[in-house]
Amino acid sequence: MTISVTINGEPIAATVEPRLLVCDFLRDHLGLTGTHIGCEHGVCGACTVLVDGRTARSCLMFAAQLDGAEVETVEGLLLPDGELSPLQASFRDNHGLQCGFCTPGMLMTATELLRQDGRLDREGVREAISGNLCRCTGYETIVDAILTAGRDQAEETA
Ligand code: FES
Ligand code: FES
Repeated sequence: MTISVTINGEPIAATVEPRLLVCDFLRDHLGLTGTHIGCEHGVCGACTVLVDGRTARSCLMFAAQLDGAEVETVEGLLLPDGELSPLQASFRDNHGLQCGFCTPGMLMTATELLRQDGRLDREGVREAISGNLCRCTGYETIVDAILTAGRDQAEETA
């Protein structure tokens, strides 16, 4: 079938097989390999993207379901000048990543969270990222990164 979908602000039309997964569509058809595939059954969160502004496991969704949707991937977080977004920079500055495998999913989950509310507390952030697994960091620096980005965002909008 043919779908019309907006990917990181760019409208595209694509012909997809009915059983093609969103993660494979993004990576193999569009070359957006920033979205990682870990468990492939909805547990690890590495494949998290935003669909119409809400987090979605791209390994649990068919590309055919994207018809008419707006999708955001980690590639879409970069600023127009190619610099890291404040959230990405905060992950770098707070050592919120080691191997980086979980990072795209963490960033997309944190993006949804920060859009809802920049005034975050530690427990709220931990709860929000509880569906994203990280084997490296112990989570504390990821929480620090999201809290810092949230604080900066709140100060800017104050
Ligand atoms: S690869 Fe989708 S949740 Fe793990
Ligand atoms: S940084 Fe390695 S899995 Fe999170």
